Amino acid sequence: MREHDAFGPATMRRGRRKFDDDDADFLKRGRLEPRLHEDPDLPDIGDNWSTWDGSLQGPDPRPDWVRTEHGAVDTELGILKTGKEADVFLVRRHVPDTGKNSLLAAKRYRDGEHRLFHRDAGYLEGRRVRRSRENRAMANRSSFGKQMIAGQWAAAEFDALGRLWQIGAETGLVRVPYPVQLIGTELMLEFIGDWETGEAAPRLAQVRSDTADLADLWQQMTDALSVLARAQVAHGDLSPYNTLVQDGKLVLIDLPQVVDVIGNPQGADFIARDVRNVAAWFVQRGLPVNADDLLERLLYEAGLK
Ligand SMILES: Nc1ncnc2c1ncn2[C@@H]1O[C@H](COP(=O)(O)OP(=O)(O)OP(=O)(O)O)[C@@H](O)[C@H]1O
Ligand SMILES: [Mg+2]
Repeated sequence: MREHDAFGPATMRRGRRKFDDDDADFLKRGRLEPRLHEDPDLPDIGDNWSTWDGSLQGPDPRPDWVRTEHGAVDTELGILKTGKEADVFLVRRHVPDTGKNSLLAAKRYRDGEHRLFHRDAGYLEGRRVRRSRENRAMANRSSFGKQMIAGQWAAAEFDALGRLWQIGAETGLVRVPYPVQLIGTELMLEFIGDWETGEAAPRLAQVRSDTADLADLWQQMTDALSVLARAQVAHGDLSPYNTLVQDGKLVLIDLPQVVDVIGNPQGADFIARDVRNVAAWFVQRGLPVNADDLLERLLYEAGLK
């Protein structure tokens, strides 16, 4: 099975441009502006037409900055982070000559031989795909199977972000990047950071505790954890690295391994691990939070106690 038989443009696009030079090179060049092309019928050099039309699109109510116009173009601005399982790129999607602009984080899951499956099989318990050909392919880790798995992580993350984003829009109790679209193994998300400079928001781990309002950040964290518990899911990899801080507000990211705590026999353990990971950071910074009390409450809210 050739790659593009199973998954569309997202994977084909991957080989097109490489940004394995210096990480935030585009920041140093200070260039968020496109280069002009000589042929006016083509998008600018390095640009592509927006892939919005052929994608699985994010939930309603759709934020007004999401660019849905046919004439929108995507410009790759550089790489934000290479990870073990995915690479995250900064993409500008804008409508030329209109000032309509958006910045997106494109998270591309690795589907090939170079992907490390650090999310172990425990996460996949209770999750199934309907078609048996796909199940077999995934079980024997053929290259089609590997791509299937990568696509499943992307789809699982897209789904989890959509659900949480909607709850956040209704309650204001949890923040995640708006999931703009999904194609195959590529997710495009709201870029959390400065849309002028292209600088990403810092991770919680990098936030200086002498200037931050730790009590407020902890309150936000417990609110977010409550939302997850009441939705009967665990983040599954919550940590000060998978939490960004934008203008004093916590934004949870990196949710492909979200765990259904009712379906998964280790559901309560996943909640406990999430709580301990983040509580430990606050305790180290000098805020005496009680992880056990919080865990009790969350297990109750999830219906596990
Ligand atoms: N929506 C976003 N806006 C801004 N930056 C983002 C966004 N999503 C991801 N990033 C950046 O990319 C990094 C990696 O993203 P993420 O944690 O989702 O992927 P990952 O492959 O699991 O990476 P890792 O293995 O480092 O955890 C984040 O720590 C963050 O710096
Ligand atoms: Mg991460």
